[in-house]
Amino acid sequence: MRHLLSTKTLSREDAITLLDVAEDMADVQDREVKKLPTLRGKTVVNLFFEDSTRTRISFEAAAKRLSADVINFSAKGSSVSKGESLKDTAQTLAAMGADAVVVRHSASGAPQTLATSGWIDAGVLNAGDGTHEHPTQALLDAFTMRRRLHGRGSRGHDLDGVTVTIVGDILHSRVARSNVWLLQTLGAQVTLVAPPTLLPVDVSSWPAAIGYDLDAAIDAGPDVVMMLRIQGERMHAAYFPSEREYARRWGLDDERLGRLGADSIVMHPGPMNRGLEISAAAADSPRSTVREQVANGVSVRMAALYLLLSGGDRTTPMTTSDGQMTSDGGVR
Ligand code: NCD
Repeated sequence: MRHLLSTKTLSREDAITLLDVAEDMADVQDREVKKLPTLRGKTVVNLFFEDSTRTRISFEAAAKRLSADVINFSAKGSSVSKGESLKDTAQTLAAMGADAVVVRHSASGAPQTLATSGWIDAGVLNAGDGTHEHPTQALLDAFTMRRRLHGRGSRGHDLDGVTVTIVGDILHSRVARSNVWLLQTLGAQVTLVAPPTLLPVDVSSWPAAIGYDLDAAIDAGPDVVMMLRIQGERMHAAYFPSEREYARRWGLDDERLGRLGADSIVMHPGPMNRGLEISAAAADSPRSTVREQVANGVSVRMAALYLLLSGGDRTTPMTTSDGQMTSDGGVR
């Protein structure tokens, strides 16, 4: 794997390898010393043209725990606000010797452009591009589902037969798109539930069932309910009558939470609008995986950086029972 741009193009084998390496990385997170020397001497640049809290610090923590040098570049306060183009910015980074570039951009396709333009020869990781994709989010979601439903350390497993209902602002959500593709690759069955105004026009060609009624979707007893944020910043028109009406019809409120099956889980990529798409009780309930998703994000991003920057050599042993380090920077 040279870049991680989308889940649509990710093979089942690569997806499972990523999740399995993330298990190894999660084991490292449980140790007293959370750091591996694996990427010593490599430089990872976080290039964020759009706001982010979780994703940026997660990539930063991941790179640092693998001993890479990290440069954080956010578009605000940089020459980008003076009109410098993506190309000029990329060439500046290349001149600094970046081995990997983690990019978030409001334009769908910006990471693809960086990866294929020839401006840089670093590995490119898409950290969210417009309304297109957010592959590491989908991978951390799949990792979280696999751990909750099959148990920790369930290496080699896919999500065959798992039922996942994704609810809310599908139209603007790169998280929904990346999840739909990855979940289908891993064998899960996806249902999308939203007001018709918040579904994209081409949704009928996606590998997912469509519904408009959240109560019916909950009564179907899905294993996973994933709530999405209403993305006000991408809305330039009225997509629903009022927030109150939205919460009443499409929000995961306390009553709907109580109707979920005993083992089903509630997910949200964050940031949450409490009281709008999700109630505080749902967000904080034992079913909620919101905090696990954040923690798992670091393990999954460590796996992605490792696989991209170590040449994708999965044969390098990462961990063994006695936890000793190898001379090549892995851990034996
Ligand atoms: C998501 C994003 O930025 O696409 N958040 C995230 O990465 N944790 C979802 C969102 O903004 O609603």
